Amino acid sequence: MTKEEIIRKYKQYLFPSVTTYYSEPLVTDHGSMQYVWDVDGKKYLDFFGGIVTISVGHANPRVTSKVKAQVDKIQHASTVFPNEGIVSLAEKIARLTPGEISQSYFTNSGTEANEMAIQLARAHTGNIEIIALRHGYSGRSQLAQSLTGQNTWRASLPAGFGVVHAMNPYCYRCPLGKTYPDCGVACADEVEAVIQTSTSGRIAGFIAEPIQGVGGFITPPPEYFKIVFKTVKKYGGDFIADEVQTGWGRTGRKWFGIEQWEVTPDIITAAKGLANGAPVGATFTRPEIAASFRGLQISTFGGNPVTSVAAKATLDLIEEDNLLENCYVVGKHFREGLEGLKDKYPVIGDVRGMGLMQGIELVKDRATKEPAPQETAQLMEEARREGLLIGKGGLWGNVIRMSPPMNISKADVDEAIRLLDRALAAVEEKRHAAVGAR
Ligand SMILES: Cc1ncc(COP(=O)(O)O)c(C=O)c1O
Repeated sequence: MTKEEIIRKYKQYLFPSVTTYYSEPLVTDHGSMQYVWDVDGKKYLDFFGGIVTISVGHANPRVTSKVKAQVDKIQHASTVFPNEGIVSLAEKIARLTPGEISQSYFTNSGTEANEMAIQLARAHTGNIEIIALRHGYSGRSQLAQSLTGQNTWRASLPAGFGVVHAMNPYCYRCPLGKTYPDCGVACADEVEAVIQTSTSGRIAGFIAEPIQGVGGFITPPPEYFKIVFKTVKKYGGDFIADEVQTGWGRTGRKWFGIEQWEVTPDIITAAKGLANGAPVGATFTRPEIAASFRGLQISTFGGNPVTSVAAKATLDLIEEDNLLENCYVVGKHFREGLEGLKDKYPVIGDVRGMGLMQGIELVKDRATKEPAPQETAQLMEEARREGLLIGKGGLWGNVIRMSPPMNISKADVDEAIRLLDRALAAVEEKRHAAVGAR
């Protein structure tokens, strides 16, 4: 098929709600480690990793060789027949997860992982109400959309019951108009106010992404989750960390993002980067919480032998190559490069993130902080032209999200910064031309 045919058929045969990047969608052909090629043969340095999913590089042979062998052995039998793949993976995860978390439930996506987490918290506590955060993203089922705190991703449905939203710790645009650290992390206290005023006072749980991904890599101040954890416990809830984007070392030196804030959650959800692109979702918890789920459960593809082997190979590689440290070291280097670009380009209002999960928020004016979605879209196009793949996010579509494979080097970062620099220069040039023309 030609590129044009693929684009036309994508529009004709898929739901129009399935959104694509760029004025002309980029049709991928193949990938190898940190690179992707489109069908025209153009090569890109991939600093988005298929939305924070390619943890150890495209088509990494240390993962694909094991997947290929498993496909030839047995591809599927369902969870009613145990297999070595699922138990090896679950055993490994039990070793990596914090505290007494040692049991897994496997599904196919982050959405399902969060569905299970909410059901579990409700079963375990006997309570119904859930606190979620504004600007959060939890998935696309009805419940997950109700947990989501962005109108763009829940436009098609009225909210489900039993979910209320608290302010998020968005320091760059503090919802309370305060400045850290003088604020005393007042946004964390707001969680208690929400529980007292918008729930029965008996909650099933609190769900949050340690760094809000789709929301634009919004990174809380160090005290935030510790304070919120205490509040959640005070009102009888389970603390759920949605690690779909922040898990498996991406934030540097810790396996899970929430560990950066010294909080041990009751339930963890994961997906995306766990299997380097093979579809997987998973919910992890302590045995007594897992046991509170009454009734039988089956997930036809959950813990599928092929997916499990892909996930186990990915985790083995992360551990063997000490990618937690690489995320920290190379992430720090990346952050320094981005701060340098901020010094150069006034369109960058904020740089934030952790490890190899870094974002820049674009604004029309640093003083007013007016979001710059058009400039962000332009930057995406310019970066594509330069041969760099980056992602977009934020409630106003004005945040660039970058999450390259976790095994990239400082040289890859230097190249990405060079390409971003050129792309930003083109955006600034257009901005000045537009101002001059007025
Ligand atoms: C933090 C978070 N949770 C849940 C989901 C939903 O995952 P999935 O798209 O696999 O259903 C996403 C997807 O972007 C996510 O970023």
